[in-house]
Amino acid sequence: MCADAQSVVLANEKIPKAAKYVRQSDAKGIQSLTLIQGKYMRKYQIAVVVGSLRHSSFNRQLAHAIEKLAPPNFSFIQLQLADLPLYNQDDDANQCEAVKRLKSEIAAADGLLFVTPEYNRSIPGVLKNAIDHASRPYGQNAWGGKPAGILGVSVGVIGTAAAQQHLRTILAYLDVATMGQPEAFIQAKDGLVDQAGNIGADSRDFMLGWFDHYVAWVQKHVA
Ligand code: FNR
Repeated sequence: MCADAQSVVLANEKIPKAAKYVRQSDAKGIQSLTLIQGKYMRKYQIAVVVGSLRHSSFNRQLAHAIEKLAPPNFSFIQLQLADLPLYNQDDDANQCEAVKRLKSEIAAADGLLFVTPEYNRSIPGVLKNAIDHASRPYGQNAWGGKPAGILGVSVGVIGTAAAQQHLRTILAYLDVATMGQPEAFIQAKDGLVDQAGNIGADSRDFMLGWFDHYVAWVQKHVA
């Protein structure tokens, strides 16, 4: 074992099981979570799945904005869904590069964050297509065992509630541990995400509270 590898192992042994965070504000009043307990910060990689390909998607804007609320030991990768072909079971034995990339990025993640609109009272086809791809071939489900949070923005007043219920059913089958509370059914409103790409002032406390729980949920499920 080389010296670097050994020092990593030693550091990992001292990672606290339950790190503690406080909210802190910067000069502009933007709050984030800061680690206060735990000398060694275990790093968490989150795979973000946005269920819209629309250029100015509210859900993608929210996904980018919420990343800014995260503690520094959380990093995010947005999974690319646009180049996935339509799922065809005939291709299971020979998955294309885009599907292999999707599966390897999910496998490398400690947790999942779904941010999706509602289409016709369910999840968009683009999201279901990605879920199906990464669940196959049979026995090689990439989603299994990951903790997940679900957020959704839509223009309707129920703020993706119906879509989120369908998504929970699908993810339960795929052995994903979805956080039950707090729920976040968000109606698209001016100022939800401000010009600078931050969560707007009216929604910041709610989203920070949601993110506090999400951080704890991921930490609880990751050994
Ligand atoms: C929608 N929209 C929508 N909204 C909603 O609240 N409930 C719904 O069931 C639907 N259904 C629906 C179907 C289809 C095919 C489209 C294109 C749209 C409206 C939807 O909330 C709106 O287009 C959002 O802007 C989509 O999210 P993004 O793309 O902005 O992230």
